[in-house]
Amino acid sequence: MAEAVAEGARSVQGVEVELKTDMDVSPEDLGKAEATVIGAPTYRHDMSTGIKNLLEETASKKIATKGKLGACFGSYGWSGEAPKLVLHAMKEKLQMNIIEIPVQAKNSPSPEDLETCRELGRTVSQKLTAP
Ligand SMILES: Cc1cc2nc3c(=O)[nH]c(=O)nc-3n(C[C@H](O)[C@H](O)[C@H](O)COP(=O)(O)O)c2cc1C
Repeated sequence: MAEAVAEGARSVQGVEVELKTDMDVSPEDLGKAEATVIGAPTYRHDMSTGIKNLLEETASKKIATKGKLGACFGSYGWSGEAPKLVLHAMKEKLQMNIIEIPVQAKNSPSPEDLETCRELGRTVSQKLTAP
């Protein structure tokens, strides 16, 4: 799903995309980027510890994220809470402008889900490059 979002984002001219895992992304990366799209699968009705720590550290280090664009996607098995929790934190803790509706796929993403991910990436890039 992340690769499809990145592919969609890269399809818009003039946008540079970095794809990072929750192991190698830092709060400072969120400060440098104009937009951040987080992938958040649901585990035990929550986001992963890696993503939770990233969001909390970004807030506590007072990284400049205010007004930046944020979006989220994720696969899930049955309840799928994580993307909404991530978007809530991006909006309330990091004061980002979020795309309210996350892209979610039940279990493995279908070709349609992946196309929706590409669309999300394109939308994010278009919002950044729109005059
Ligand atoms: C230990 C464990 C706990 C899970 N808890 C939830 C859950 O609370 N709600 C849910 O919707 N899916 C849950 N799932 C299903 C995962 O969200 C689903 O398999 C998802 O596709 C995993 O995405 P990933 O492969 O990108 O990590 C759980 C899966 C595992 C293995």
